[in-house]
Amino acid sequence: MLYEKISLKQFSDERGRLTVAELGDGLPFLVKRIYFLTESQDLPRGYHAHHELRQLVLCLHGSCDMVFDNGRRKETVHLDNPCEGVILGSMIWREMHNFTRDCVLLVLADQCYDEKDYIRNYDEFLRLTKGDPA
Ligand code: TYD
Repeated sequence: MLYEKISLKQFSDERGRLTVAELGDGLPFLVKRIYFLTESQDLPRGYHAHHELRQLVLCLHGSCDMVFDNGRRKETVHLDNPCEGVILGSMIWREMHNFTRDCVLLVLADQCYDEKDYIRNYDEFLRLTKGDPA
């Protein structure tokens, strides 16, 4: 798999549902940054990879599709459950498609924002991943 799907610990009772990700249990790294996508339009986003960054992506509301690509093959995951996260490592091209208007996508990242960590050119990504295992 080009990503790791994780089920977060949940506590449901008559008041509702509480969902947890903590270091070592649903969260494999220390978080230095969070960001979230709201007011989503049905327009694709992403189209980049990272040299180093690791992320946990959670769809807190609504749904979208994430497409992952290691330069050899692609995998798509449909995100529509706030308790099911996707852990994404480095050197994976990612695209996000089919956002519902109510989609809220939360991303927890192990590094601060650094444009130098981005690979935004797909041909460069293919060049860098050439020779990597399928
Ligand atoms: P962009 O990389 O285009 O978003 P996506 O991956 O969803 O396609 O980011 C949009 C803008 O936000 C861009 O100008 C960079 C800026 N940005 C930050 O300043 N800090 C951040 O942590 C992130 C993720 C983006």
